[in-house]
Amino acid sequence: MVPGSRLILLGKQGAGKGTQCTRLSRHYVVPHISTGDMFRAAIKSRSELGNRVKQYIGGGELIPYEIVMEAVVERLDQDDTKARGFVLDGFPRTVHQAETLADILDPVPVDLVIDLEVPTQVVLKRLAARRVCTDCGANYSTDVPPKFDWTCDNCGGEVIQRDDDTQAAIQRRLDLYERRTAPLIAWYQERDRLVKISGRGDPDKVTDRLIEVIDKRRAAGGRHGGYRR
Ligand code: AP5
Repeated sequence: MVPGSRLILLGKQGAGKGTQCTRLSRHYVVPHISTGDMFRAAIKSRSELGNRVKQYIGGGELIPYEIVMEAVVERLDQDDTKARGFVLDGFPRTVHQAETLADILDPVPVDLVIDLEVPTQVVLKRLAARRVCTDCGANYSTDVPPKFDWTCDNCGGEVIQRDDDTQAAIQRRLDLYERRTAPLIAWYQERDRLVKISGRGDPDKVTDRLIEVIDKRRAAGGRHGGYRR
């Protein structure tokens, strides 16, 4: 049986976290937990959670700690995560969130935290060009659109620009990344969990780099897979 993993991908907006977490989730057979996807699904279904987070996401603001933790704790408590582990995408995003995650996972820390490094001018281009399927979340861009009239190749859903991919919201998200999320790099470095990987170039090549460092860490030992609370 393929051993599970407990991974975190850090990186600024547009670094390719979602793209790569989807691939790592398939490769290591672990749930892909994207807080952004969870909140967008809640908005789409017009749930109470969706109503609470809508204004924050649209403006590129961070969702309050209590709301994020409630959603994450509920997700981490599900059987697939407990058995197989996870690849976390977009969480933690502040030192406060990382401290709480460490408490939840105690006594065993995450296997590896990877910082996907991409220069700001590159992410700005990627975000401006990004288009997403409103149904399945598949990623497209103005350079590589769906085959037919902005209709998703996978599910037939409508392909649009994300509400928070406007110039003002992108700028706000990148500012918040520098102030609130970038300090996590040092935080995980101090705990000997962090590896930096270039997120530039062909996405397949980026995936190869990620798998290489993750497998190296797995070969070096440590506990892999889910957790029991
Ligand atoms: P979230 O959905 O997590 O968005 P994000 O952090 O802004 O990240 P992105 O989805 O923009 O970028 P990505 O790195 O995943 O890149 P992607 O793979 O899509 O969060 C959205 C919002 O939710 C937040 O702003 C906040 O309001 C809220 N939220 C979520 N979590 C929270 C938390 N923990 N606390 C508080 N609030 C929270 O790629 C981008 C584009 O580039 C795509 O078009 C892709 O096709 C392309 N691309 C990817 N890789 C490559 C490559 N190698 N070469 C060329 N193009 C590439």
